[in-house]
Amino acid sequence: MTPLSSHEILRHLGKNAKDLPIFVHNSLDSTNTEARRLLTQNIPRPFLVLARTQTAGRGRLGRSFHSPLDSGLYMTVAFDMAGPPEKITSVTPTAAVATVLAIQDVCGKQPNIKWVNDLYLHGRKICGILTEAVAYEGGYHVLVGIGINLTTSEFPEGMRNPAGALLSPDDPPVDPSLLCARIIHHLFEYLTPSNTSACLQAYRRHLLHIGQNVTCTRHFSDDGDHSTDLKGVVEGVDDDYGLILRLDDGTQEILRGGEISLSAASFHYKKEYIP
Ligand code: BTN
Repeated sequence: MTPLSSHEILRHLGKNAKDLPIFVHNSLDSTNTEARRLLTQNIPRPFLVLARTQTAGRGRLGRSFHSPLDSGLYMTVAFDMAGPPEKITSVTPTAAVATVLAIQDVCGKQPNIKWVNDLYLHGRKICGILTEAVAYEGGYHVLVGIGINLTTSEFPEGMRNPAGALLSPDDPPVDPSLLCARIIHHLFEYLTPSNTSACLQAYRRHLLHIGQNVTCTRHFSDDGDHSTDLKGVVEGVDDDYGLILRLDDGTQEILRGGEISLSAASFHYKKEYIP
C-alpha cells in the first residue's frame, strides 16, 4: 500500500486546506483517543489524525476495531460545531455518505450504508464510523473516526458482523492519502447547510434493508440491561436520519440516534445519547 503522507493529503485537498493540521503516526492506540488528547492541547480545529495501525482501535458499544498495519485507513477528523446536540445527529450519516462517495471516486466501487453508519460491500462490513463529541460552551468538538478495511484479509474470531475488505487481491491498489482527502472533501461539502437535502438523498439512495424484515433490539441502559425487541419492515429514514420501521402490528416506529449495532437481520438500538 502507498504510504500515508500528510503532504500527499494536503496536495490532494488543494489550496483551501493548506493550513489544515494533519498528524500521521505509524502507530497509535486510537486516532479518536489521540484527537481527544490534541483537543486538550488546544490544537486549532479542524484537524486530522491518522495512523498506519491502531493498537486499541475503538468501535461503537465498547467494541474494538481491528486495525492491522498498512491494510486499512484509520483516521479521525476533529471540528467544532456550534449549537445544540441534535445538530450532531446528522454528522455520522453525513460521514457515511462522504465515505461512500470518496470510495466511488478512488476505485469506482459502490458500498452501501447499513443504518446508521456502517458501510457494506458484497454483504460484508468494510467500514465503521465512530463519532464522539466533547462539549464546550456554545457547542461541541466533534470527532469523526472512520476505519476502512482496504486490504485486510484476516479478522478476529467471533466478530458480530461479517467483515471484509474494500479491495480484493486482484484490484489495483488505492492510495490512502487520496482516499482520505476525498472523504474530507465530501464531508465538509455535505456538512454545509445548503447541502443537507442532497446528503439525505444520497444517504437514502445507498441505504440497505429497505423493504426488508428486521428485528430491532432496544437496550435501556438506565434500566439495567433490559431490552425489548421490535420486529418490522424498514421503510427508510426520516429527514433527521431516524430509521422508519413499520411494526408487525401496523404501527410505525422511528428509531433515533444512539449507539446502534446490527447483525444480518437484527438491529440493536441503545437508548443513551451518543451522536
Ligand atoms: C464501528 O464499527 O463500530 C466503528 C469503528 C470506527 C473505527 C475508526 S478507525 C479510526 C477511528 N479510531 C478509532 O479508534 N475508531 C475509529
